[in-house]
Amino acid sequence: MKIMMIGFGTVGQGFAELLLEKKNELPEKIEIVAVYDKKMGGAVNHNGIDLKSLLEAASSGQVYSLQGGIKEVDVPNFIKEVPSDVMVEVTYTNLETGEPAYTHIIEALKSGKNVVTTNKGPIALFYNELKSLADKYNRILKFEGTVLSGTPAINLAFSSLKGSKINKIRGILNGTTNYILTNMQTGMSYSEALKEAQKLGYAEADPTGDVEGWDAMAKILILTNVLLGGGITKKDVFREGITGITADMVKEAIMEGKKWKLIGEAKVMGNRIEASVKPQKISKEDKLYSVDGVLNSIVFTTDTLGEVQIVGPGAGRRETGYAVLSDILSLS
Ligand SMILES: NC(=O)c1ccc[n+]([C@@H]2O[C@H](COP(=O)([O-])OP(=O)(O)OC[C@H]3O[C@@H](n4cnc5c(N)ncnc54)[C@H](OP(=O)(O)O)[C@@H]3O)[C@@H](O)[C@H]2O)c1
Repeated sequence: MKIMMIGFGTVGQGFAELLLEKKNELPEKIEIVAVYDKKMGGAVNHNGIDLKSLLEAASSGQVYSLQGGIKEVDVPNFIKEVPSDVMVEVTYTNLETGEPAYTHIIEALKSGKNVVTTNKGPIALFYNELKSLADKYNRILKFEGTVLSGTPAINLAFSSLKGSKINKIRGILNGTTNYILTNMQTGMSYSEALKEAQKLGYAEADPTGDVEGWDAMAKILILTNVLLGGGITKKDVFREGITGITADMVKEAIMEGKKWKLIGEAKVMGNRIEASVKPQKISKEDKLYSVDGVLNSIVFTTDTLGEVQIVGPGAGRRETGYAVLSDILSLS
């Protein structure tokens, strides 16, 4: 299988490292034939780019220095013109427009490529449109890494839960906020816990996307529209982050035997769907109570099995690189 990669940052490199590590265990030969990253340039080799050289070039920020290297391209044209079976889209997430990934995915599908992405923007905002386009061109659109990184969530629901009706989805969908709230349990203030998360690289310098609930909201949109057939948009999701949670509120919850968690929820209510992201004070009986630190979890309520829970990492270089690998393997 020949792969083209658009974006080659943390996730792109995590995927290439796994490909190198597991190349003798994989059921088929998977080759990266083209890479382009805005920061590092790109390279094309129709016989497959040597992965060790590619990763070395990326670590010095100079992918363009490889054989077949290129400094700058018009990305949509590059996607259209370079032959490959799959386009892996791992550029940054934009929750306002979905760009540049939205255009990249359209170009790839139209030029006959399957698409694997971990980019939340285009799937949260345009899933129905992109799925229809994929169907029209008889191509496959995969996006496991958009929710809970490589922890099977989307693919689990599509495969093993295929014969079940999912009525409700409820989860801890953001590791940064869960880490902050867990640390607040030890007596830290919100700002101390945030600083600690930033020091460890769990929170960005501007933490707004995580702490105000935008990231969890994108994931609830994806889960709702993909698995509950929702067709909802950002304005349909009630969103509140964790910035209003104080040390006193956490202390009071502990005294009641409870914990504060940022919970994303979507449930089918007759012919409409109710979706929200908000802090909730939950008790020990709640399946999400013991999910602490950077861990994520989803509880699917189904008509056949009752509640099915998954717990696992929600981010990370290797973990999200694995989402790309598992999606690619599912294509063959
Ligand atoms: N990291 C995780 O744990 C994780 C988990 C789940 C999902 N994701 C999602 O996966 C995607 C990739 O994440 P990441 O952590 O790998 O991000 P990253 O490290 O910032 O890498 C993204 C790369 O894409 C490049 N880029 C931006 N616009 C481009 C364009 N038009 N054409 C080609 N390259 C372009 C960026 O260059 P510049 O820096 O110059 O813009 C950067 O090198 C994001 O959408 C993210 O939300 C990440």
